[in-house]
Parts: sequence; C-alpha cells; structure tokens
Amino acid sequence: MNKIIPYGKQYIEKSDIAAVTQALKKDKVTTGPYVKKFENKISQFVKSKYSTVCSSGTAALYLAFQSINLKKNDVIIMPCITFVSSYSIAKMFGAKVYLADVDPNNGQMTPNDVIDCCKKYKIKKLKLVVPMYHGGYPVNATNFKKLKKKFNCYIIEDACHAFGSTYKSNNKTFKIGSCKHADISTFSFHPLKSITTGEGGAVTTNSKKIYNKLEIYRSIGIKRSKEHWKYDIIEPSLNFRLSDIQCALGISQLTKINKFIKKREQIAKLYNKFLINNKIEVIKYDKNLKSAYHLYLLKIKNFNLRKKDNFLKFMKKKKIYIQYHYIPIYKFKVFKDKFIGKNAKYFYEHTVSLPIYFELSRKKQKYVINSILSFFRK
Ligand SMILES: Cc1ncc(COP(=O)(O)O)c(C=O)c1O
Repeated sequence: MNKIIPYGKQYIEKSDIAAVTQALKKDKVTTGPYVKKFENKISQFVKSKYSTVCSSGTAALYLAFQSINLKKNDVIIMPCITFVSSYSIAKMFGAKVYLADVDPNNGQMTPNDVIDCCKKYKIKKLKLVVPMYHGGYPVNATNFKKLKKKFNCYIIEDACHAFGSTYKSNNKTFKIGSCKHADISTFSFHPLKSITTGEGGAVTTNSKKIYNKLEIYRSIGIKRSKEHWKYDIIEPSLNFRLSDIQCALGISQLTKINKFIKKREQIAKLYNKFLINNKIEVIKYDKNLKSAYHLYLLKIKNFNLRKKDNFLKFMKKKKIYIQYHYIPIYKFKVFKDKFIGKNAKYFYEHTVSLPIYFELSRKKQKYVINSILSFFRK
C-alpha cells in the first residue's frame, strides 16, 4: 500500500460539495435557515423533541452541563475510559468528578460501576452521570435511567460515538438521542464520526426548559427581543454556534447516514469473521443493540502496553494507523487523579481500534487483516 490507512475518515461526495456551494451563495452564511433545518432533521432522525446544533462535540457537552446548572462542588460520575472533553469541562465548572471503572469486555461504564463508585467514595448526593457509548454500541442505555430514579440525578449521554446507534427496550427500538432514557444526549460531527460537518456537534433533549437554555448559552447568553436591535444577557457564555455552511453539509450528510453505517457494519462483520483466533478476541455485544460503528475495537489476549506499542509500530510500518481508545483519564498528569480502575487498566492494555470508514475498500481491509494476522503468527 502506498497510502496511509487511517483508523477513520470522512466521506464527502459531489452532492455534499453542491450543498455547501449553495449555502455559500445565500445572504446569510451563519445562523440562517440551514441551522433550524439541520436541527429539525436531527430531531426527526433520533426522534427527540428538540435539537441544538453547536460547534463541536466538546461544545455540546459544555452546553449540556451548563443547561443543568452544573456548579462548583456538584458531584459527577463518568467512566475513566472516555474522551477527555467531558472530564475537562466538568473540572472547568469546578465540579467534583469521580471516575468509575468500566466493563473489562467493552470498556463501558455500567450502572453497577456507578453504584460501586458511590460506595467507594461515600457519595450521597449525585448530580450527574455521564455514560459514554464507547465505539458506538449503546450498552446499558436503558439501565442508566434506573440510576436517575435511585439518585435523583441527571443522565447526560456522551453519545459522540453513537449518532445513528439504536437499542431496544420492551421490544421497541430507540435511537440514541431520542432521550427516552436520558435527559440529554450529545453528539460530535467531527470528520471521523458517522456524519460530519467538518467540526460540529449537537445536543438533543425532550425538555423545553433545557432546550431554551441551550439556545441562549450557545450564543454568548444573548436573549433577543422582538426588535432586532434590543437584547439582554441571561448568563455569561461563549460562542458555540455552528454556521449555515456547516449545517448545509450536515443536512446533506444526514441523508446518507444509513448507507454510511451499513458500510461500517460490513467492515465490522469482515473483521469479526477473519480476526478470531487464539490470540485475538472479538468483542461481543447484546443483539438488541446496533452500533453506528464509530470505532471497531479489538481485544488482544495476553497483551500489555509494551506488546501493544510493538504491534502499533509493526502496523505503522505497513502504513496502517491503528489507535488507542482511550488512554484512561487518570493517566493524564494534569488532572492529578489517583484513581486506577482495574478493569479499565485491563481494557486499555488489551484493546486497539482498527480502521473503519466508508471508503475502506475490501482490498485494503484484507490487507489490514492479513497484516494483523501476520504479526500474531510471528
Ligand atoms: C466520546 C467523545 N466525546 C466527546 C468528543 C468531542 O467531540 P469533538 O471532537 O467534536 O469536540 C469526542 C471526540 O472525539 C468523543 O469521542
């Protein structure tokens, strides 16, 4: 192979370019009609009452935390295997963030992990739980709601891997983002995600109260009145807006999401078929769940960080860029977090992410598979 095979990549077609070109010709290139249209399309797709688009998945989490009035010393629990955005933001709000361990099989925090965390740190009052659907499988999406009842807390899903993922509850299928079992869902439209707006994100909810706040906080806390020259500031905030140009791309990409996910499913199936052997373990998920396959996570038996680095180096020489998802939060010195999750450590040491994206041809994927198998034959 003469070109690098990354672990993820966007897919932009002529129709996407045409949609953006159209948007560029309009009078408004930001906060015009495309924003509302994209939000309506997202709500129709996930079946939520409200959607607010914003500048990134990180912005979506920031807005979500702000909308529940997260304050200094409020207690939050999130998994120690997650992308750093949620943790960083919670720290910026001055919240007390506790890291829960994860299921060693799939790297996701379970409701029991949250309960164990509460016992361990003697937490009585819990404001917020932030599940993260690692890779895209929405494991326990239904069960987190039970925590809401037990602790009277908010559930904000970091669903940045799961736009297009579904789960079943009482024989009904729900999309992540429908907020049937959570207060708020947050999404990212970064180029590696199931659809892209370049950079971008969205927050969905069924609460009018939360939605009203999201709309105001997205735009520096400004509340406009009927006269276009008059406005008030409800609360200090930042500019988290997504432009009309990006929304035009998002609308176009959203029309293709089923085809994008289908291709990712086919790629995952092929990995599942060819990669099982006595050194490699394919992660198994409940069949009531469907992933949008942001990532394909593979577990390697008897691995450790040294062997994992050797494997990544070997693959890099073959121009295949495999990734770590994720370095556990407690590893980052800046956070000075002492927590070490036994299962998280195991998951971190044994798991890698393989290339998965629309344009990954069967030929390239076979090359990836054969390269992996050749490493383990050594
Ligand atoms: C789980 C998770 N949360 C949040 C984010 C942040 O999204 P963004 O890069 O759009 O800010 C990401 C991005 O990769 C993510 O994977």
